Amino acid sequence: MQIVFGIDFGTTNSALSVYRNGKVEVVAVDGSDRAGELMRSVLYFNEENEIFAGQEAIRQYVGDGAAGRFMQSIKTFLPNTSFESTEIFGKRYTIDDLVAIILKKIKVRGEAHVGCPVESVVLGRPVVFSTDAGKDAVAEKRLEKAARKAGFKNVWFQYEPVAAALAFEETLQKGQERIVFIGDFGGGTSDFSVIRVKGGDFARSDRRSDVLSLGGLYVAGDKFDSQIMWDKVAHHFGRYARYTTMGKDDWVSIPKSIIYTLCQWHRIPLLRARKTRELIRVIKGSTDDRRAIGHLENIINDNFGFFLFQAIEKAKCDLSDREQTRIRFTERDLCINEELGKSEFETLNADNFQQIASCIDEVVARSGLLPAQIDTVFLTGGTSRIPHIRELFAERFGRDKLEQRDAFTSVVHGLGSSVPLFVC
Ligand SMILES: Nc1ncnc2c1ncn2[C@@H]1O[C@H](COP(=O)(O)OP(=O)(O)OP(=O)(O)O)[C@@H](O)[C@H]1O
Ligand SMILES: [Mg+2]
Repeated sequence: MQIVFGIDFGTTNSALSVYRNGKVEVVAVDGSDRAGELMRSVLYFNEENEIFAGQEAIRQYVGDGAAGRFMQSIKTFLPNTSFESTEIFGKRYTIDDLVAIILKKIKVRGEAHVGCPVESVVLGRPVVFSTDAGKDAVAEKRLEKAARKAGFKNVWFQYEPVAAALAFEETLQKGQERIVFIGDFGGGTSDFSVIRVKGGDFARSDRRSDVLSLGGLYVAGDKFDSQIMWDKVAHHFGRYARYTTMGKDDWVSIPKSIIYTLCQWHRIPLLRARKTRELIRVIKGSTDDRRAIGHLENIINDNFGFFLFQAIEKAKCDLSDREQTRIRFTERDLCINEELGKSEFETLNADNFQQIASCIDEVVARSGLLPAQIDTVFLTGGTSRIPHIRELFAERFGRDKLEQRDAFTSVVHGLGSSVPLFVC
């Protein structure tokens, strides 16, 4: 009996499926309840260099008062060729070492579930890790290396939106054929595919001719959070602060690069570089907004970026169900309480939505079909819950073509369904 795992290593969440005896099952990776189906793709290293992943990482991080090193959105670093490795409490980790820790954790949980070692895996990958072909190849190689370090001997890749299409296909009746536009909106990337699906075709050996087009971009959930940070929260950390340089009367603005880095939650630890900290100390000495620069120092030194971004993410998710919310966050003498409306959120993110819309149009055009020839639009991924994303599709294809199923497990289910394409 052959058992193969499907692993969706996501920017925000990871998940596992098991393929055995021609059946696919999604297995909880971080607890036994429904929420445990997913594992947050985060790592925490404490000062004793113990390593934790998922919920346990968050628990330890909170328990330690954020003293160790917390890492998130690790997938985003895969195509980054200037990021080779990082030193954590005196030990050096390459990017594939970090990813391997998460994959290994998932592998161990899966093996406990099936009761035997498993050496084969189908991994999901975004359509576009990077628009630079060289970097894209580096990202896939690193992911493969990570899987091997985690102990897998056979490693195959499937495009995430193609996997989602296969999961959708299983819900069709035998013989029912449709042209589907798949939109997988995650934390790091939005991935698209136009694909022909057919009910009862589960084990067809080669699906390449059914994929009419593929495309994607790295504008997704994290970008929306960053945009909220930039427009609604960054002023608490000195976005508009000015300072005078030694001996001069002219006021200069705080370097944009500092605020820009602050707005990308996974990059905040980079601000710990000694040069940056010194610069911020100099700025604090002559700024017109000492309070804000103090908060900037605190977020860097006290490592509370994760919690701040959780508050921002919560506000974003609130707006998927209502018109108005508040971003609330308190830490020491910092008290953030900003009102945010759905239409304001959409206006702030107009450029991000525009980029997504253009990419959707390109993928449809490349398929050689007109929007009217697409039978169904299948949306998945956490970010597909944003009403304006669904609006983009309703405008183009008509509301009655939209289908939305489980936002978080379609891809991993489809990775399991992909197994016969590789092993038979
Ligand atoms: N109700 C909601 N409204 C808006 N966004 C949401 C909602 N629920 C989750 N999200 C967002 O969805 C994203 C996570 O989705 P998902 O788990 O599909 O991503 P991922 O698979 O980890 O990422 P990727 O596929 O890009 O690697 C996060 O950015 C999260 O904030
Ligand atoms: Mg995903």
